[in-house]
Amino acid sequence: MQELLCRLVAECRDACSSGGVASYIPELAKADPRMLGVSVLTTERTFFQGGDASFPFTMQSISKLISLALAIEELGEDHVFERVGMDPTADPFNSIMRLEMVRPHRPQNPLINAGALVILSLLPYRDSKTRIAVILAWARRLLGNNAITVHEPTYISEKNTSDRNRSLAFFLRSVGSLKGDVEDLLDTYFRQCSMSVTTKELAFLGMVLALDGIDPFSGERLLRRATARVLRALMATCGLYDGSGEFAVRVGIPAKSGVGGGIVAAVPGRMGIGVFGPALDGKGNSVGGMAVLEHLSARGNLRVL
Ligand code: DON
Repeated sequence: MQELLCRLVAECRDACSSGGVASYIPELAKADPRMLGVSVLTTERTFFQGGDASFPFTMQSISKLISLALAIEELGEDHVFERVGMDPTADPFNSIMRLEMVRPHRPQNPLINAGALVILSLLPYRDSKTRIAVILAWARRLLGNNAITVHEPTYISEKNTSDRNRSLAFFLRSVGSLKGDVEDLLDTYFRQCSMSVTTKELAFLGMVLALDGIDPFSGERLLRRATARVLRALMATCGLYDGSGEFAVRVGIPAKSGVGGGIVAAVPGRMGIGVFGPALDGKGNSVGGMAVLEHLSARGNLRVL
């Protein structure tokens, strides 16, 4: 496996040149577009790695899985899905257009930015400081690493430039879909997006979801089975935004991407996978990461969709 992963990274590295690093968050623009890495966690509880597997990057949208899991576990599926839909969109992750067109003005799913902001607004915590403390605690458990922290420069960079997310949140509040202090809520969102990980932590998270919510090492139940299944279903249908259909055809595994270049994938009952490659396609998904996942899926016969 180790050898296969090293070979896949070597084969797929050239694919990175067709993408570009995220530049709308200045800190992300500093990434090296040639980087590419992968970690795999199998049922034998062994990690296999290739390429830049241990290079740290920020979770960005992959963090939406953490706060969604928290919201479902704490508030229940019914409550959560009264406020956000569960359908894919053909729109970009930060699109504002359809929010005004649909009635009620409810984000289509919790993995687009508007949906993630509504999810954060549902959490019953006083302010951003308390909210992010709980999210970090959940992230540490679901990622299998007690040392997970927020990468401050990325947080500040996003906070200083995120007019699009501000406009989404203020619009949602104007139509009554989101309540509370918008700047405080955005603060939590920028911090959760800036949680720093490597592909190893993503492989761990993928395995927790693959095992229906069980910690692969301790055997402890971290999430209800139903919660893990909701997350996998949303990953399969909405995890790569307007690229989700093509990804399902090419790779066939539930997954979630982030503009930091990470993708987490969960092969039910079998495997957790984390990939990292900061060169993105036009939809904000890692080009090299998707190439690695496509080859790994084909060679390992991992397709479930
Ligand atoms: O809100 C943003 O724009 C970023 N913090 C996260 C977006 C993201 O990761 C989209 N995923 N591919």
